[in-house]
Amino acid sequence: MTTVDERDNQMGRARVKDNPELEAFYEDLAKIDTGALWTVANDIEPWEPTPASAPVLWKWDEIRPQVLRAIDLVRPEDAGRRVVYLRNPKRRDVSAACGWLFSGIQTMKAGERAGAHKHAASALRFIMEGTGAYTIVDGHKMSLGARDFVLTPNGTWHEHGIEEDGSTCLWQDGLDIPLTNALEANFYTVHENDYQTTSLPLDDSPATYGHPALMPELDRWDKPYSPLLKFRWDQTYEALQSYAKVTDGSPYDGVIMRYINPKTGADPMLTMGANMQLLRPSEHTKAHRHTGNVIYQVAKGEGYSVINGKRFDWKEKDIFCVPPWMWHEHCNTQAGEDACLFSFHDLPTMRKLGFYAEQALEDNDGHQIVES
Ligand code: FE2
Ligand code: FE2
Repeated sequence: MTTVDERDNQMGRARVKDNPELEAFYEDLAKIDTGALWTVANDIEPWEPTPASAPVLWKWDEIRPQVLRAIDLVRPEDAGRRVVYLRNPKRRDVSAACGWLFSGIQTMKAGERAGAHKHAASALRFIMEGTGAYTIVDGHKMSLGARDFVLTPNGTWHEHGIEEDGSTCLWQDGLDIPLTNALEANFYTVHENDYQTTSLPLDDSPATYGHPALMPELDRWDKPYSPLLKFRWDQTYEALQSYAKVTDGSPYDGVIMRYINPKTGADPMLTMGANMQLLRPSEHTKAHRHTGNVIYQVAKGEGYSVINGKRFDWKEKDIFCVPPWMWHEHCNTQAGEDACLFSFHDLPTMRKLGFYAEQALEDNDGHQIVES
């Protein structure tokens, strides 16, 4: 097998050895804000993606008490959003959980609400626990239960709160803030009245657009994102169980389905997408790798994933990330129960830009050698 160093010595790759004349030349180039491409070419044009992020597992048992601590320390109206964010040790400079994706755990208690705002970054949330949570997106108020998935597409006014008779709620936020900032395209605006006033009925979005294979004849939705803003867990799980009866599923992901814009069949937002997958009892998938950053939350069950040779054991509500081009495979360790993984990712961006690439692991019957 050819090593990367050997490949870098091939024709067509930069392989100029330094000498005093060249060094003087480089210094003169630097003085006029220029440089010789061959000094950086092999770094800026790698043979394959070189992910900046580390694979990380955030254990719910460790995160949950710290998030709850924040309730007594800050008020949502002062903090803006009471969020403990997931900080990838290799992406601290951009406050990312993985690659160009931000994620955090938000908590609010009964009667609290956070002011309305909008931003260029897209956002989503996956509800983890509590009752009485709601989100209002451009006037569409939605009640939220555990494992419901909610969109706040880029540029939409949104705010969150907990009804007076609710309980303390926790949910995972996912945003493409680091991507939007990398593209230097972020805007953030606070609503002039702090809160949205709405005359639309509660849950009008799922009541109108949340029916499989049915669209209202009076549909006038013309936005570039999904008119269905809330995806209920009971419907999602039922769909997976139903599909599982008639498919072997993906060799890499088990029985996997994609959250979509029901009007177009495309991803629900322009830049980020999401999936829910079901691993049958004792199912162990084969390994593959692809471009794009993926952040998983264990919606149900327990098991482990192997990411670039390292095993990460997970159980319900644990969160982990798979950086681009890292081998990954998943295993449900329960003999009698299915396991479900929720995930969100930047694959819509990767696909639109023409950067999506995928490879299956051929060696060892498709399984990685796990580091001890
Ligand atoms: Fe927001
Ligand atoms: Fe994958």
